[in-house]
Amino acid sequence: MSTTIYYFSATGNSLKVTKNLSEQLTDTKIIQISKKSIPTSKDTQSDKIGFVFPVYNFGLPVIVKNFIETLPIGKHTYVFAIATCGGMVGAALNQIKKILNKKDINLASSFCVFMPGSDQLMFPTVSEEEQNKLFNDEEKQISTIALAIKSKQHIKYKSNAIMSSVYNLLYTATFRPKGMGKNFWTDEKCIGCGLCSQICPANNIVMHDRKPKWEHQCESCLACMQWCPQKSIQYKKATVKRGRYHNPQINVSELIPNR
Ligand SMILES: Cc1cc2nc3c(=O)[nH]c(=O)nc-3n(C[C@H](O)[C@H](O)[C@H](O)COP(=O)(O)O)c2cc1C
Repeated sequence: MSTTIYYFSATGNSLKVTKNLSEQLTDTKIIQISKKSIPTSKDTQSDKIGFVFPVYNFGLPVIVKNFIETLPIGKHTYVFAIATCGGMVGAALNQIKKILNKKDINLASSFCVFMPGSDQLMFPTVSEEEQNKLFNDEEKQISTIALAIKSKQHIKYKSNAIMSSVYNLLYTATFRPKGMGKNFWTDEKCIGCGLCSQICPANNIVMHDRKPKWEHQCESCLACMQWCPQKSIQYKKATVKRGRYHNPQINVSELIPNR
């Protein structure tokens, strides 16, 4: 009864959920989704397959969408999805369901786990107190989710069909990650350590003369900005006075994709 969990994570929330879940399931393999991960049928022989990912602009990160579209999945596999988000899952779980349906695969169960928001282009960071509350709730919720997955239950995250269409429209209208690279810059605190380039799951940052340069395949995940040890990376003027967030229970080295 093996399980493979594919996760995408920039600030560590989805990785934390993946790790907590895999500790409670037996014989589990976890695989990071990044620009370098190639979907292969070798990993999809498990009888349970799960996807854990953050919500971006009410929908799916593009890299997750592309990965699931190309992943070979057997017809009788039990498939589940867990979206982590700062408060509004939007159309993300519905989008996965549709991608799988096109492949003639059923999304057996879907869940949403609230975690500290990582969108510091739009919002301030949540307080440490609020973070701890979310982490406690997450651990309890994962125990329940693990029981459901172990017994292959079918549990659908309840979503309103009309609202889901609205979120889908908002996602399509507002989510343009590829072009975001041109808006990042570094202030005088940059020491040229290159961590931003190493952690980028889209392989979108190259170092020139010890300074990062963003190319045109941004995923809008903000890993570069959130993990910069100098807090030197900015996006337009939006982040100059804003705090940074990354999951305190995850080490940055766990998120660096294999290249
Ligand atoms: C560009 C961007 C857009 C986001 N949009 C949403 C959103 O629409 N709804 C929401 O609840 N959270 C949103 N978030 C917050 C993340 O989904 C949430 O913090 C998630 O747990 C981060 O996961 P990670 O640490 O694994 O990257 C957004 C974050 C980013 C960076």
